[in-house]
Amino acid sequence: MSSLLIKNARYLGDSVDLLVVDGKVQSLSASINAPADAEIVDAAGKILFPSFIDVHTHLREPGYEWKETVATGLSSAAHGGFGAILCMANTDPVNDDAAVTEQILESARRSWPNGPRVHPIGAATVGLKGEELTRMSELKDAGCVAISNDGRPVGNTEIFRRMLEYAADLDLIVIDHCEDPYLAAKSHMNEGATSGVLGVKGQPDVAETIQASRSILLADYLGVPVHIAHVSAKRTVDIIAWGKSRGVKVTAETTPHYLTLDDTAVNGYNTLAKVNPPLRTPTDVAAMREAVKTGVIDMLATDHAPHAAHEKETPFDEAPNGFTGMDLALTITY
Ligand code: DOR
Ligand code: ZN
Repeated sequence: MSSLLIKNARYLGDSVDLLVVDGKVQSLSASINAPADAEIVDAAGKILFPSFIDVHTHLREPGYEWKETVATGLSSAAHGGFGAILCMANTDPVNDDAAVTEQILESARRSWPNGPRVHPIGAATVGLKGEELTRMSELKDAGCVAISNDGRPVGNTEIFRRMLEYAADLDLIVIDHCEDPYLAAKSHMNEGATSGVLGVKGQPDVAETIQASRSILLADYLGVPVHIAHVSAKRTVDIIAWGKSRGVKVTAETTPHYLTLDDTAVNGYNTLAKVNPPLRTPTDVAAMREAVKTGVIDMLATDHAPHAAHEKETPFDEAPNGFTGMDLALTITY
């Protein structure tokens, strides 16, 4: 039997002790006497949380191991306090086949047998090309817990409709990265005053809102659920609130960066602030915070999307979108 006693932690405003025996929480109270042989950790000045679940990360395995592996991603998760994470399908090969799902799960078991746990998100269409639906039931059997076309939004509304129906039949949530592919084409940041001054092609915030509206209207029509990924814009919050008020089964996430940064972070052609959806305006940041408070946004995720340093050390237009998130998510958000 192994025991761990965490003493003097702050939990929901109170000072508590927490006893863990053989990896399971046994008791939580104001004061617990240490069992013999217990490892004791003094957590005075620290806050105790249950481990978090991150519903949106990008592990880069298979295919982009110079950016991240399942092992390094799970290490980052552990440092950030995440006990379980969901990883997106934009690997190479894409996670559109049970063999890829199994490979990700096997890498996780090998590198971190006691967790954090990884739950893959399967691709909605083959190769994320938006043309042919994947064999979602096989992906589910292999361990996928949700379906998404990730950063390659499905342009064809008929295919998107079938995707929602098929996934709902299998009790799989569709996670929608909302971006009108035409309005957002070849953009590198938010369209607005900052993009104008920098001379960088921007995408209007309404590119996100239009796609989210399509999802919500279809979810309403079909009576199926849909989850809106990394909401960045006030207009999108408004349309989600409208869907919820109608009883549509729509849920939504935002991330620490949309709660804390606006598009002026891109000034100086700062590729580290290049992300998709792009950082928006202070008005959007304020609306995101409000939406978390009011519950229009149901959950926070990170969209942890690491790249190698040399990939970000390029002209702005050539740099990839995304940055790490799990390590600092709690600190930044708290
Ligand atoms: O910033 C982003 N990075 N947004 C995405 O949608 C994809 C992600 C990535 O995989 O790098
Ligand atoms: Zn993402």
